[in-house]
Amino acid sequence: MKRTVGSSGLQVAPVGWGGMPLSLPPRPTESDAVALIRTGLDLGVDFIDTADVYCRDDGDIGHNERLFARALHDHPARTNVLVATKGGLCRPGGRWLAAGRPEALRAACERSLRALGVEQITLYQLHAPDPDVPFADSVGELFRLREEGKIVHVGLSNVSAEELGAGLSVGPIVSVQNQMHPLDLSAVHDGVLAACERTGVAFIAYSPVGGGAERREVLGHPALVAAGANLGVGAGTVALAWLLSLSPCILTIPGSSRLDTLRASLAARGLVLPPVLRAQLDDTFGHSRPAA
Ligand SMILES: NC(=O)c1ccc[n+]([C@@H]2O[C@H](COP(=O)([O-])OP(=O)(O)OC[C@H]3O[C@@H](n4cnc5c(N)ncnc54)[C@H](OP(=O)(O)O)[C@@H]3O)[C@@H](O)[C@H]2O)c1
Repeated sequence: MKRTVGSSGLQVAPVGWGGMPLSLPPRPTESDAVALIRTGLDLGVDFIDTADVYCRDDGDIGHNERLFARALHDHPARTNVLVATKGGLCRPGGRWLAAGRPEALRAACERSLRALGVEQITLYQLHAPDPDVPFADSVGELFRLREEGKIVHVGLSNVSAEELGAGLSVGPIVSVQNQMHPLDLSAVHDGVLAACERTGVAFIAYSPVGGGAERREVLGHPALVAAGANLGVGAGTVALAWLLSLSPCILTIPGSSRLDTLRASLAARGLVLPPVLRAQLDDTFGHSRPAA
């Protein structure tokens, strides 16, 4: 069953693919990565999340976008895939720094258009607010790029509910991409998820199986392991299905650099958790919402 990406009207499967592990060290060879992406497309992946900065450092900007462009260019599924990218960070010496000045965002967007080999980016997300740049200036530049036809839809990432509100006062924001996994439900508790629901914005959960920092804890969590054993799937698949059960506005973008993890994630697309199991996971991870 597909879900709508906020007010864009675009429909995608609720489990997409985050491209980051294909471009950060240790990373597969380019030909292995392209072959894996093409297999993913064959398996029905229709939503890809990438970024200009998924790469080794500033000398390698666009690595991840170029991989997806290579995999997509002659694949029969290419017209049915939503490719979302991001701008607003830079990678000097491999560090992650903010780069949200309007001129930097414009240059990043133009580089991404070239890396992706497209004339328009369907969903362009501000990677993170830049503390040295007024938020409205960064967001305003994305809407100028949209007016010029370089972007179709604008999304935000790593924002608070207040920043989402500020973004919406500049123009239609279709998505917010923040971290969310069973051991990090801050988006539930800080009101971002509720703000997305209220305003018809999609919530794209990044690092949904724990990311670099907490993947081991998520995949080894006894409640997820037991539920997976019960259902004949892995703990990661259960984690994704449970996140999706929290709200119809949630989309997930697990990263994968191997086919078995990709398959495990895609198995969550059609997995409906039995109510008893779902209630147990709700109790375990304590997702209850703050009173309105
Ligand atoms: N907006 C932001 O600031 C931001 C920040 C971080 C990430 N992201 C986006 O979110 C995506 C996902 O986040 P992430 O890559 O940090 O973390 P993640 O999806 O939580 O974890 C990714 C790792 O977990 C493994 N994995 C994936 N699905 C699995 C499953 N179903 N079962 C067991 N293991 C599984 C993969 O291993 P293998 O590599 O061995 O296949 C992968 O490397 C990124 O690729 C990126 O697109 C955005």
